[in-house]
Amino acid sequence: MSGAEQRGIGSCGRCLAVATVSLLCIAARAVQCLSSPAPPKFDPGGNVPAAIINHSLMLIQRLQELLNNANTSDSTLRVLSSGSEEVKVFHTHQLLLSLQSEVLESLFYNQTTVTLQEPMDCALLFEKFIRYLYTGELAVHPNQAIPLHQLASKYRVAALQRGVTDYMKNHLVSESSQGHVVSWYHYALKTGDEGLQERCLQFLAWNLSAVISSSEWVSVSDNLMVSLLQRSDLVVQTELELYNAIEEWISKKNPDAPIVEKVLRTIRYAMISPIHLFHIQKTSLLLDRYYSRVQDLFFQAFQFHSASPLHFFKYFDVNCSMFVPRNYLSASWGSQWIINNPARDDRSTSFQTQLGPSSHDVGKRVTWNLLFSPRWLPVSLRPVYSDSVANTMQSVRIEDGRPRLVITPAMSSSDFAGVSFQKTILVGIRRQQGKLYVKHVYNFHQSTDEVADFLGQADLQKRTSEYLIDNSLYLHIIIKPVYHSLITAKK
Ligand SMILES: *[C@@H]1O[C@H](CO)[C@@H](O)[C@H](O)[C@H]1NC(C)=O
Ligand SMILES: *[C@@H]1O[C@H](CO)[C@@H](O)[C@H](O)[C@H]1NC(C)=O
Ligand SMILES: *[C@@H]1O[C@H](CO)[C@@H](O)[C@H](O)[C@H]1NC(C)=O
Ligand SMILES: *[C@@H]1O[C@H](CO)[C@@H](O)[C@H](O)[C@H]1NC(C)=O
Ligand SMILES: *[C@@H]1O[C@H](CO)[C@@H](O)[C@H](O)[C@H]1NC(C)=O
Repeated sequence: MSGAEQRGIGSCGRCLAVATVSLLCIAARAVQCLSSPAPPKFDPGGNVPAAIINHSLMLIQRLQELLNNANTSDSTLRVLSSGSEEVKVFHTHQLLLSLQSEVLESLFYNQTTVTLQEPMDCALLFEKFIRYLYTGELAVHPNQAIPLHQLASKYRVAALQRGVTDYMKNHLVSESSQGHVVSWYHYALKTGDEGLQERCLQFLAWNLSAVISSSEWVSVSDNLMVSLLQRSDLVVQTELELYNAIEEWISKKNPDAPIVEKVLRTIRYAMISPIHLFHIQKTSLLLDRYYSRVQDLFFQAFQFHSASPLHFFKYFDVNCSMFVPRNYLSASWGSQWIINNPARDDRSTSFQTQLGPSSHDVGKRVTWNLLFSPRWLPVSLRPVYSDSVANTMQSVRIEDGRPRLVITPAMSSSDFAGVSFQKTILVGIRRQQGKLYVKHVYNFHQSTDEVADFLGQADLQKRTSEYLIDNSLYLHIIIKPVYHSLITAKK
């Protein structure tokens, strides 16, 4: 036994024995006494564990074998699958089932053979489920999560319920070709799991371009579509891409007229150029039917494009969300910036965007200068070389700095009277089979200092960082003009 351990035990003993020591000490040591093996000198049995014999894996193996051994079984589960003649028979052990599920325990209360009726997808996974009850182990695939969660819920196996929910939260992204997040969202809605709902919504919002082009898109329910379209953080190429996507969704799903109207009214027509607006107004079959329901929005959008925005907002009391840009990836709104080996040193770049989405401003270019520092220290933390503070400052090293990105316009800001620019950074955007994926989104005005934890968890110096793709940081910077009169009107 090490000296440190002995000292620990010694002081522990003292703590308990001497009544005058502080309560704090007693509390702290009591925990230690309870959780560590009893000290030798107080142990009458003398059974100090010198080493641990650990055959828990073998035990799990044995338990697993029990399932295949009908001889020792004391009960039988017959599982009927709805819509099929097939009956699966499991020779089980009541004790093991009862340990995990009080529902199964009560079913076996007065009988030894129980017949269960399960939906097809649950019946297919029943063996997996029973095996989990025996061994506590289970491998899940994305398309098995819902039926497994249903089984866990029906038989009240709380640990498995939690396990599957955690799995879903952490595997929104996984290799299932057809996508599963939409169905998980709908399931979370049904079971009232708000945490999972929120995670699914965020995934869909930030990865919308990818979802739109997948077969999952047409499985989006009416309510989910409405809640998605109300969000300003949707990541899409352009508002027109979104319009085309909902046109496809409507034509495949054929929802009720009130839903179509609601959905069509959440499109931000002002963010679509007048040429494209005119084109869809005249050629879209959907608008041919529903134009009267959105006429006012089209009119307003055309007016927005024909006047200077400052003028426009002076005269019109408008509904704001139509004029709030979403996260558009197209070049007029921003640019991608791939930083290779980002932990190495400071980097800068520049790009141009439109002054604003109104036709009046589209042609006016604004140049932006960007500076990225992997290890930036706020002024208050920088080392100061004077005797009086030398000691306190010594502990601050360059490694303590954190990533920072600053965006400034190359021209004088007086050119932007009445407009300020909201910046949004999408991190981890990349193309995977031609799809775009976003890991994180940050919003700020000039510098990421305004954001609590910009790339705080990114571990940029580690090649294995989740935020790096081939040792590069993939950023996409979006510049959104915000009209001051709009902000005032909103208040
Ligand atoms: C015994 O081994 C299993 C599997 O190797 C491990 O998970 C468990 O923590 C071990 N138990 C102890 C008390 O060391
Ligand atoms: C089950 O019992 C039968 C006869 O009682 C025996 O032949 C067979 O080996 C046993 N099976 C197992 C797996 O123990
Ligand atoms: C066991 O009890 C349940 C309900 O309490 C009843 O439906 C079932 O028929 C009983 N089975 C036997 C074998 O008595
Ligand atoms: C979007 O998809 C990517 C990759 O598929 C994933 O890493 C990221 O977490 C997703 N975004 C959200 C907000 O879930
Ligand atoms: C503004 O738009 C929202 C969402 O489309 C809608 O619910 C609200 O009624 C509109 N307000 C006005 C004043 O038009």
